[in-house]
Amino acid sequence: MGAPYIQPRQGSISHPLRIAVLISGGGSGLLALLNHQHSKPTTHITKLIISDNENAKGLQYGDDFQISTIAINLPQSHDRVQKRILHENIIHERLIESNIELIVLNGYMRILTPEFVKKWKGRLINIHPSLLPKYPGANAQRDALEDGATITGCTVHLVDEGVDTGKILAQSEVPILQTDTIEILQNRIKEKEHLLYPKVLDDYCAHQSIQR
Ligand code: GAR
Repeated sequence: MGAPYIQPRQGSISHPLRIAVLISGGGSGLLALLNHQHSKPTTHITKLIISDNENAKGLQYGDDFQISTIAINLPQSHDRVQKRILHENIIHERLIESNIELIVLNGYMRILTPEFVKKWKGRLINIHPSLLPKYPGANAQRDALEDGATITGCTVHLVDEGVDTGKILAQSEVPILQTDTIEILQNRIKEKEHLLYPKVLDDYCAHQSIQR
């Protein structure tokens, strides 16, 4: 529902789509994408890394791969709504300045406002650590464990105005073992995410139907 999804232009190896990756923490998913993009010619290239947290470990990968990297902290304001809007406006300006054509949220732990989503809808992809629509939100692995689930997974989806409700591009299952802690499960899911989502981007950017 809401605004339509507008696909980015078709990327090609000679003219790859310019991607920004938004992170909040460790950035293992960002690293997987950068390794993928450096392992062979791809229809997309990471041109900008943005974190909402200046201490995010993942920011180091910008230096390692010589990619522009910016930490944009939440601005000071007593008004929580205003703070989010100001923050997103700064992010949007940076994306435009860098001619970004597609945004990937990988471990970006903020919910974007519908106003921001509308500007990028169809060009905004999220990686989520569950088989949506099960376990949306910030604690998907904990919720799956507490639910006694034996299977969970990861989802690559387009972002819409809701929370983890956008169009699903691909999913991959991950087993849950009785001995799993949240951390063990997080890492097992990440392994699958790192294999799945770069390939989904290959297809999405090339306007091909998604292979899994
Ligand atoms: C990934 O598992 C991603 O699916 C999850 O954060 C992790 C990021 O790890 N995203 C969410 O939970 C979004 N709600 P990383 O910082 O090591 O790439």
